[in-house]
Amino acid sequence: MNVGGTLIAGPAAGPLSGDITVPGDKSMSHRAVMLASLADGVTEIHGFLPGEDNLATAKMFMDMGVNIDWLNDEKTSLRIHGVGLHGLKAPDHVLDAGNAGTCVRLMTGILAGQRFASTVTGDASLCKRPMKRVVDPIRRMGATVDGTEDGNFLPITISGGDLHAIHHISEVASAQVKSCVLLAGLYADGDTKVNEPKPTRDHTERMLPLFGQPVDVAADGTITLSPTDELKAPDAAVLIPADPSSACFFAVAASLVEGSDITLNSIGINPRRDGWRRVINGMGANLKLDHERAVGEEPVADIRVSSGGLHGLHVDPNDVPDAIDEFPVLFAAAALADGEFILENAEELRVKESDRIAAMAAALRAAGADIEERRDGAIIHGLAALSGNADVDAHGDHRIAMAMAVAAQRARADIRIHNAAAIATSFPNFVTLAQSIGMNVRWADDNEMSL
Ligand code: S3P
Repeated sequence: MNVGGTLIAGPAAGPLSGDITVPGDKSMSHRAVMLASLADGVTEIHGFLPGEDNLATAKMFMDMGVNIDWLNDEKTSLRIHGVGLHGLKAPDHVLDAGNAGTCVRLMTGILAGQRFASTVTGDASLCKRPMKRVVDPIRRMGATVDGTEDGNFLPITISGGDLHAIHHISEVASAQVKSCVLLAGLYADGDTKVNEPKPTRDHTERMLPLFGQPVDVAADGTITLSPTDELKAPDAAVLIPADPSSACFFAVAASLVEGSDITLNSIGINPRRDGWRRVINGMGANLKLDHERAVGEEPVADIRVSSGGLHGLHVDPNDVPDAIDEFPVLFAAAALADGEFILENAEELRVKESDRIAAMAAALRAAGADIEERRDGAIIHGLAALSGNADVDAHGDHRIAMAMAVAAQRARADIRIHNAAAIATSFPNFVTLAQSIGMNVRWADDNEMSL
């Protein structure tokens, strides 16, 4: 786990302002590296997120013989020399996904299709997250999986090849599960089908056609993928828009700090990622979309946010999968909104990089908020300001750390956020960008770090 690192965040000195571009989308960055590595030919990717999670995915493919050229020092542009669907080499050591759930769940599908055995592990947090949801379907497809507690926890060893097509009816609304099965389906002996209880982010379905592989999505939601012998590197570069999950931190901060007016450039507004905007708009936020356009297969827009008196909301359960990663910062918004905020049907938050319901309830309560934890969500009564002057634990979870830094902008005194180093997994330049719009947040010196 990414332990250590303390952020000190406190009341914003004045309105937030500026025009900023947050880094590339994490989900799409993983998928672009995966498909480019498995394609025949050379793929260029621009807008890649050089966070630790995505670098772990790139490293896994390098460990299996894929050559990657980094085209700039920031590692946002790269060229991948694909080895073809059957060109990966058996790794000579354990593959390490670090903190990255998307990496390990999707790689499980890809490794299930390989005619060699591989062992995958992750950091302490990832080793506690459930793997059965992906292990069960790939076992049904014919892969052998050994691992802790019957393969429910990392490390796991996957021996693949000769997969059968299945129709997977997923019990959880999870894009990672869906994508794992579809990626394994590339190697199956017939059409692979997936149904999910609620639609989830569809970046895999949108990106596969760029590599010459169509995916059918029927009106009843059934997703069908046919097996293939090859993916083809696209002629044009794969362009990755800015990550709405990162943009949301600043959108909430600007909504909360009076007089603020910021613009977030080129943010993905794919409906399956846009639940955060539906929730925050439902709370009365002032968001305006400009220059709606497409980047590759994905819709994007510039989003202008000005401060506004937020109020409570009973979140529509249909919005939960579409906002699943944004609830930590939406809890921060609710803690400072007028009235009651109710979230239900969100028990998946308990199996993310941390138990996000428990972690946010503990941190917000320590900072003075009125939040009641529920098995599948929370009830929050908003206050005009948090008292602050608190030490809180981000539990090595990037989104808890950044959500508390946002909440602190409307506290009466500083909040010290410990175990915040994991910000580097998804948003390495968060503090710099936050400071550039006027947020009061900085990394603590060594002598300020104790919990
Ligand atoms: C992701 C899917 C979601 C999300 C994660 C990224 C993806 O996880 O929370 O951050 O890229 O497919 P689940 O599939 O577990 O809901």
